[in-house]
Amino acid sequence: ATIHDQKLHRGAGGELHQFAEDGKPMLTTAQGGPVSDDQNTLRLGARGPALIDDFHFREKIFHFDHERIPERVVHARGYGAHGYFETYESLAAYTRADLFQRPGEKTPAFVRFSTVAGSKGSFDLARDVRGFAVKIYTQQGNWDLVGNNIPVFFIQDAIKFPDVIHSVKPEPDKEFPQAQSAHDNFWDFISLTPESMHMIMWVMSDRAIPRSFRFMEGFGVHTFRFVNATDDSTFVKFHWKPKLGLQSVAWNEAVKINGADPDFHRRDLWQAIQSGNFPEWELCVQLFDQDFADTFDFDILDPTKIIPEEILPVKPIGRLVLDRMPDNFFAETEQVAFMTQNVPPGIDFSNDPLLQGRNFSYLDTQLKRLGGPNFTHLPINAPKCPFHNFQQDGHMAMRNPVGRVNYQPNSWNEGPRESPVQGYRHFPAEEQGAKVRLRPESFADHYSQARQFYVSQTPPEQRHIAAALIFELSKVETPVIRERMVSHLMNIDETLASKVGHALGFKSMPKPADAAMPTRQDLEPSPALSIIER
Ligand code: HEM
Repeated sequence: ATIHDQKLHRGAGGELHQFAEDGKPMLTTAQGGPVSDDQNTLRLGARGPALIDDFHFREKIFHFDHERIPERVVHARGYGAHGYFETYESLAAYTRADLFQRPGEKTPAFVRFSTVAGSKGSFDLARDVRGFAVKIYTQQGNWDLVGNNIPVFFIQDAIKFPDVIHSVKPEPDKEFPQAQSAHDNFWDFISLTPESMHMIMWVMSDRAIPRSFRFMEGFGVHTFRFVNATDDSTFVKFHWKPKLGLQSVAWNEAVKINGADPDFHRRDLWQAIQSGNFPEWELCVQLFDQDFADTFDFDILDPTKIIPEEILPVKPIGRLVLDRMPDNFFAETEQVAFMTQNVPPGIDFSNDPLLQGRNFSYLDTQLKRLGGPNFTHLPINAPKCPFHNFQQDGHMAMRNPVGRVNYQPNSWNEGPRESPVQGYRHFPAEEQGAKVRLRPESFADHYSQARQFYVSQTPPEQRHIAAALIFELSKVETPVIRERMVSHLMNIDETLASKVGHALGFKSMPKPADAAMPTRQDLEPSPALSIIER
């Protein structure tokens, strides 16, 4: 073929559209050069050595060699969809956030559901927490509500996050078990961390094996703040309620599904959306002030606690509809970068020590995972409102300041300006105290809400929790870890504890655990070990 055989076509702007002989668009290199042969490398003679002249081969292989980016350090396996958020009513009395001002207004959104512990290639129905991360592209910048399907968390302070995650991931010498909590390291850490007990009750419950993403609740977990135009603050907890209701599978179903169809959850979401069966959640809030918070015997800054809906009912404020799958999984679902610190004016943080740590962690991890400071230039992460700043350069910069001015103040009367009135104003909370590393006394009760959760379950659900604990702890090889776990259960529900202890072969029950953090001495195998039948 010669250049004369090609079908060429000039567009309105004078650009050259190149077509192959069959009328399909021409295959080109990344530089736009037309490719003549994509089947054979350039060789010296048909059986001779390959030639370094072959820029097409080198570019193709180079690009393939660099296809992988690091998977997320947690929540590696996920599935996303586009949609919109629709506001029900004006919330101007509580928040100046633009998206909550006008009833009926729709704001584009992207959601990524995930498991936490498994790697990118793990199976969908692991017993695990599910991530429920929502990015809403508001007219005042992106709001990321990076939540889970369980309303509490394992730890009270972000400094423990690497520990809880290391313990649940595959053990470092063996690189197994994968995506399962059933192993000594995980239960060792949990048994030494009484604050995790409420979360453990949820994780052992049917909540941790959802029927599909469409049947899950979501929670912002932490206490946040709404702040209105006159700088009045209201505490807020966020809940997503699925329109289809809440459903889970049973453990024996989960095990079978994992074997037969490890993509069960992503297939379900794909099929529902592609068939026009758009999943929907209501965004609900619990709103309260400091006086109300002071009536509780737990701390609203403690992420291992909920505010029971019987005490403070949730108020629906809008709905989220997912109606479009991404065009490309990698470009959107893999490269989306959620960050708890992305909040628009009118939404602010509380002093929850887990939230404060997250506000550092997410920006930091995206820099590494997405390869530099310009990941906000990716279409999935870029705001959908106009945005202007003086940030420039860096790897893969796709937006740079235009013209002379890349700083302010400047004498040229150019470039964007800050606005003390309309810009983000942090809520001027008054704080005081000594610099200390200290867990507040108000965070000390680790068992009451664990008990409330267990007691609130129906008898079959309680049986499932017991069966999950028996299954998990029976996989734990170190007796003292089993014993420590049962001693925590003694503080939650004695019948549950004895059911589990009996199934694990205990001759008698251990003493209820001391809620305090363990000392080094506590970690030594204790004489109480003798009560365990080995
Ligand atoms: C990722 C939720 C605690 C660090 C995620 C994701 C969710 C999530 C949903 C996945 C986002 C996605 O789909 O891309 C939560 C919740 C927490 C919590 C609800 C507690 C209430 C923490 C803490 C830290 C942390 C305490 C660290 C101090 C991370 C990191 C990622 C992540 C590094 C990976 C982000 C990425 O590479 O995109 N978290 N998380 N998380 N989380 Fe958390």
